[in-house]
Amino acid sequence: MASKPSKKAYLDLQNSYRAGQRIGYADIAQIQAYIFTRFPATYSVCLKIFEKYSASLQITSILDWGCGIGTASLALSHFFKNIEYFLIEQDIQAKTYATQFLKHFHPDNPVQTSTPKNVDLSVFSYSLGEVDTWQLVLDEIWPKTRYLLIIEPGTPAHFKRLLQMRDYMLAKEAHILGPCCHQKICPLKDNDWCHFSENVARSKEHRLLKNAERGFENEAYSYMLFAKEPKVSDFGRLVAQPRLHSGHIDLKICSKSGEIITPTIGRSASNYKQLKKNQWGDTVNIAPDPD
Ligand SMILES: C[S@@+](CC[C@H](N)C(=O)[O-])C[C@H]1O[C@@H](n2cnc3c(N)ncnc32)[C@H](O)[C@@H]1O
Repeated sequence: MASKPSKKAYLDLQNSYRAGQRIGYADIAQIQAYIFTRFPATYSVCLKIFEKYSASLQITSILDWGCGIGTASLALSHFFKNIEYFLIEQDIQAKTYATQFLKHFHPDNPVQTSTPKNVDLSVFSYSLGEVDTWQLVLDEIWPKTRYLLIIEPGTPAHFKRLLQMRDYMLAKEAHILGPCCHQKICPLKDNDWCHFSENVARSKEHRLLKNAERGFENEAYSYMLFAKEPKVSDFGRLVAQPRLHSGHIDLKICSKSGEIITPTIGRSASNYKQLKKNQWGDTVNIAPDPD
């Protein structure tokens, strides 16, 4: 795999992200810095999203657009076995890593480095937001795919862009599988944004590169999953971590009717036990009892 990562490469990578100049990697040292500092987070987020949706998707091929070292494909391979991989990546060295990782871990599965005529799932994992002409990319890919997943960092600025992508896809008659349980205007107000959080373990190298002491970090992310076919929606999605108190839980739900509701569920409610187990990002299928 990667050799010892360099702190300079990590700092250069970070600085170019912060300056908003990031498209790809300057050299192989930056790819290695990415593997140690960003890949654990983007991979964990991909795993979390696929874990949520894999049971309801039928997938035998993936287009991993802006694949980097193959993050989304590697994550998807945990849930689906016989997959054909199509990798699109402008950085030749990153694409070589992606191809070699997939061939190593899945020697029997075809790995292509071209855009397919048709594909089941197209994934843009932290990549579409790097492209100013993202509309053209969606114009090209949407007609070829059954499902389309866009993942972006969970910041207000990235979410604003994701909402523009959502509008663009709805105008193409796409159906949203998640996180929204509706196709209406996003009910979150200007100072709020729809995001989720994944706890990511930090390796020793990761901590050294970031001068970090904690053995984990929280990765905030936002996403949109679209399909050609509609689905019957759940009641709503938890858009914040439920707050457990003694005897009641406070929830924040984006509902099927396109509204944010903040019910308080008391111990006597019939769905209290079930709702107590639910986590930020889960769908809740039972309308909360009024307390
Ligand atoms: C932040 S990295 C994400 C990598 C990987 N998908 C992940 O989740 O870890 C964004 C990737 O998109 C690639 N990319 C950006 N613009 C691209 C373009 N126009 N065509 C192909 N790849 C592109 C970059 O080279 C980079 O590898």
